[in-house]
Amino acid sequence: MDELGFNKLFAGILVAGLMLMAGVKLAEVMVPHTELTQNSYVIEVPETGAAGAAAPVAKGPEPILALLASADVAAGEKLAKKCTACHVFDAGGANKVGPALWNIVNADKGAVDGFAYSGALAEFGGAWDYASLNLFLAKPKAYISGTKMNFAGLKKPQDRANMIAYLRAKADAPAALPTDAEIAAESGS
Ligand code: HEC
Repeated sequence: MDELGFNKLFAGILVAGLMLMAGVKLAEVMVPHTELTQNSYVIEVPETGAAGAAAPVAKGPEPILALLASADVAAGEKLAKKCTACHVFDAGGANKVGPALWNIVNADKGAVDGFAYSGALAEFGGAWDYASLNLFLAKPKAYISGTKMNFAGLKKPQDRANMIAYLRAKADAPAALPTDAEIAAESGS
């Protein structure tokens, strides 16, 4: 290859390189790659673990505070038949297999006079507010591991709401219904 041929080749490579750089620059200008503030595909993950969710994540029972205001006390009284083998709900009722449950809403846990609680419940602490009754009645042994209440639990949220509405009615003065703020806090919204 003579000197001219070599220069031509060299110039050719140079021009090709310049065109490539210009092309990259042009592409950047035409398609600006700014950082996305959000994924272009927003993937909705249902919090309630709807059908099709992969591994079921251990989660607590459904919230019920929002259901309480319109819960059916009479339906709760029917459900209470599941409890009366062990509990009396009326004023002045005696302890049986389980403690007497008059005035139980907002009472301290494990505090009914004269009842021999399990260590698990006696030491659990806190009061029976609506949210903890919901957890306990859904599955007693999941909420208080070691409790001696042998009851599988009320699976349906509406049943638990009706049952708790009945417990609320079985009191000298029914506890206040949950506030909107408490309802929102319970459902985590
Ligand atoms: C087989 C008997 C049995 C059945 C059925 C039963 N319970 Fe109990 N319940 C117990 C016993 C025993 C305890 C005390 C548990 C402990 O000490 O760990 C208890 C404790 C409780 C407490 C806590 C009371 C406190 O003073 O802290 C509540 C509330 C309660 N039961 C509600 C119910 C409701 C509502 C039902 C029906 C849906 C029900 N239970 C069904 C035996 C039963």
